[in-house]
Amino acid sequence: ENLFQVAIDGPAAAGKSTVAKIAAKKLGFVYIDTGAMYRSLTFKALSENANLNDGHQLKQLLDRTEIQLVHDESGQKVYVDGEDVTERIRYPDVTKQVSLVSSYEEVRTEMVARQRKLAESCSVVMDGRDIGTHVLPNAQVKIFLIASVDERAVRRYREEELKGRHPSMESLKAAIALRDKKDMEREISPLVKAEDAIAVDTTSMSIEDVVSQILHYVKEKQ
Ligand code: C5P
Repeated sequence: ENLFQVAIDGPAAAGKSTVAKIAAKKLGFVYIDTGAMYRSLTFKALSENANLNDGHQLKQLLDRTEIQLVHDESGQKVYVDGEDVTERIRYPDVTKQVSLVSSYEEVRTEMVARQRKLAESCSVVMDGRDIGTHVLPNAQVKIFLIASVDERAVRRYREEELKGRHPSMESLKAAIALRDKKDMEREISPLVKAEDAIAVDTTSMSIEDVVSQILHYVKEKQ
């Protein structure tokens, strides 16, 4: 049968997971959140006091870590070795260290193998930083989502607010910019737009508008 792949990449807090989730649902594809996988390893490394400067140790830790992305009516759930870490992997300690943990070649090679395996048997919408450039180079549709740092900080603030937290706008902006810098400057599969990706600037677009644009590109290729 014909499997279809949609790759969605872009910087932190550009709305990738929000639109990827909705688009996947509308298309009947499986949504794969690769950031959640790197976050899961980071969570486990922090809880085991692993040395985050040692890529080989992190890879060995990954080898004995089961990461499950489960989908139900309430949305996506993430399990690490059977424990529900859906909320936990979004905490600031994980967010702060995830770019370091994801920078190692050994770690990325294993993650990419797992991600490709997940896309082997079904049509997918996969989001991350290196999906169009590296994980799914033959994806029929590649989207590169961007938005201004100010807009991304506002979106992140609203998410935090819903969880009862009130970080300062300046701290959110700084954290987003720093994570982007690390993701763009790393040696292995840095964040970069694939040549054949369509750039979509979502700064002044609604979620529905972004989703319908993506669906439009998919329909064109189907
Ligand atoms: O998408 P999310 O913000 O949850 O990703 C968290 C981090 O995981 C990114 O900042 C990046 O360091 C790393 N990541 C990556 N490659 C991917 C997805 C995420 O390096 N495909």
